Amino acid sequence: MPTFPELRLRRLRKSEAIRSLVSENQVDVGDLVYPLFVVEGKGIKKEIDSMPGIYHFSVDKLAKEIDEITLLKIPAVLLFGVVKNKDEVGSKAYHPRGVIQQSIRAIKKAAPELIVVTDVCLCEYTSHGHCGVIANGDVDNDRTLPLLAKMALSHAQAGADMVAPSDMMDGRVKAIRQALDANGFNDIPILAYAVKYASAFYGPFREAAGSTPQFGNRRSYQMDPPNVREALREIEQDIKEGADIVMVKPALAYLDVIRKVRDTFNYPLAAYNVSGEYSMVKAASRQGWLNERQVVLEILTSIKRAGADIIITYHAKVAARWLSEIK
Ligand code: PBG
Repeated sequence: MPTFPELRLRRLRKSEAIRSLVSENQVDVGDLVYPLFVVEGKGIKKEIDSMPGIYHFSVDKLAKEIDEITLLKIPAVLLFGVVKNKDEVGSKAYHPRGVIQQSIRAIKKAAPELIVVTDVCLCEYTSHGHCGVIANGDVDNDRTLPLLAKMALSHAQAGADMVAPSDMMDGRVKAIRQALDANGFNDIPILAYAVKYASAFYGPFREAAGSTPQFGNRRSYQMDPPNVREALREIEQDIKEGADIVMVKPALAYLDVIRKVRDTFNYPLAAYNVSGEYSMVKAASRQGWLNERQVVLEILTSIKRAGADIIITYHAKVAARWLSEIK
């Protein structure tokens, strides 16, 4: 093996062209999923305070946004509903004319090719803000399952292309798969938020979705940040229950977990570049402390390099623009 001075690693870094030839990982716009927050009401397009550049849309205001997303060639959106008048069991989550069910129909009509993925979780719809029904002061796993299945089915019936359970109940992938199959939706894939940590990086999202728990926290169902072996067990469980794509969330503080999952399982892997990760970049670049474009592309590349195939990110629109420009 040659060594210095015969070996000079800088030879392959001399120009943009040569760096491009030897580059090991690329982010492609085709890997990106853009989250959208849909609110009840009419004529609403309102920026979310804690997430500059991200908006609440009412269903009637979605069409223009969808046009932009398709023009940018972003292949998929992930829908979150924001509702008023919540109840204990999250009834609006599975109402046939709920805000998500209406959004799905509107989007599929405007852009039939755009993949519509829906978040399946009760926390945006329950008065207590937890991801399932409450019994004896805690979230009751088994009583939550039929409601999640009902919610996923109502999304499929409205035309969703894929459902993404994010609640972290045991057995929910199986319950959802059974409900979909029993109703003729055998070909609708499940993207399971298999490894979802109890993370403080969800802070801005909870403001955006109005889903902060009214008592306690989510630590009895979301994963404990120090654990990685447990992450593999979560993935294994969701695969056995029928998940088609698995996810690790958040992304940046968990790149090692993404790598471990990539090396252990041959399933498509998604990573969620969450709200807090987005807001940090926005805040620092607004102050002039970071170069937003460079930092965003570096972050997305790091998630790819860690092993993710799919990146869910609030940066998707700007990243799509930057990626399509000639360097
Ligand atoms: C719903 C859900 C959350 C996120 C996605 N789905 C919040 C939570 O679990 O509290 C977080 C997304 C983000 O922070 O961008 N359970």
